[in-house]
Amino acid sequence: MNDLPTVLRERDQALRLIADPCSESAQQIISGADHLRAQTVGPAVHLRGLIEFSNYCRNNCLYCGLRRDNQQVSRYRMTAAEIIETAGEGAKLGYKTVVLQSGEDPAYSGEVIAEIIREVKQFGLVVTLSLGEREPWEYELWRAAGAERYLMRHETADPVLYQKLHPGQSLLQRITLLKALKELNYQVGTGFIVGLPGQTPDILWRDLELAWKLQAEMVGIGPFIPHPETPLGKEPGGTVDQTCIMVALARLSLPYALIPATTALGSIDRFGREAALQAGANVLMPNLTPTFYRADYQIYPNKICLGEGAAECRGCITGRIHSIGRTVAADPGHHPLWDQD
Ligand code: 5AD
Ligand code: SF4
Ligand code: FES
Repeated sequence: MNDLPTVLRERDQALRLIADPCSESAQQIISGADHLRAQTVGPAVHLRGLIEFSNYCRNNCLYCGLRRDNQQVSRYRMTAAEIIETAGEGAKLGYKTVVLQSGEDPAYSGEVIAEIIREVKQFGLVVTLSLGEREPWEYELWRAAGAERYLMRHETADPVLYQKLHPGQSLLQRITLLKALKELNYQVGTGFIVGLPGQTPDILWRDLELAWKLQAEMVGIGPFIPHPETPLGKEPGGTVDQTCIMVALARLSLPYALIPATTALGSIDRFGREAALQAGANVLMPNLTPTFYRADYQIYPNKICLGEGAAECRGCITGRIHSIGRTVAADPGHHPLWDQD
């Protein structure tokens, strides 16, 4: 636990790869990570059906289209019944896991979320939550209600950059909550954005170090996509190559982790998700949100699948997985080292 993995210990080499993601050596690392992924977690890709149930957010993250100061967003909240029904459709489509995601929306009390979890568990689904920062007692309540996983990216491991990007929030608080989730025996997902204004290779190295120190079961890595209605709207975005080298280094750091090929990557490049799946990733998160609400959940612009229904995304994703010689997982896709209480 105390010893950094080799890829991170060889810090100068890692920094060179991060700084030059199109180099021949970066390509070799990506092949190496793909090979390691095949050995540790195999060919199966785990699908998680994503339900974006509220786009209200009390936070004001500088990069995000759902930030509270963006008045151009038409805000919606799905009812508990709608959320449960959507999860049921996910189960019918063959998903084993649903991800309940929202902005940080205090309108859903801890008890209401717990009740939704209990209902969704009735479909035999694994429940992943992605609701941001809440009280530890709520995390405990939801774990007891049956939720097995929690996603909350640390976004950036640099405390100064973190503070600039997240007014009123702190990296320390984020890490404290991630540790609390670990203590509650959730499978915990952290992760970060690649290509943020002000980010350096050293910061990205520390992003990997933090994911490793937390022994995150899941690591979500996606490119920054400038959203025009945010303060960072005119900044350059992250690239596929930058993102893929980070995915590869994450796989080499955490050989058994669940690593998604993110929707953000699929949104900046038609084959971005396939590229990540061939750089160490082994999870895809197709959208299950009712089409009616999808266009209003634009954390970044040009998000894919806004017009496609849940069944279409399910089919599209299966085709993409098969096109690169991989399979759709048949099991719930828990982290292999996680022990259910
Ligand atoms: N570009 C890329 N990723 C973004 N996120 C939010 N806004 C953006 C953006 N403009 C990511 C954050 C958050 C996740 C749900 O979406 O990392 O954790
Ligand atoms: Fe809210 Fe999440 Fe967007 Fe930040 S990234 S503004 S917490 S929805
Ligand atoms: Fe939604 Fe391809 S994943 S259409």
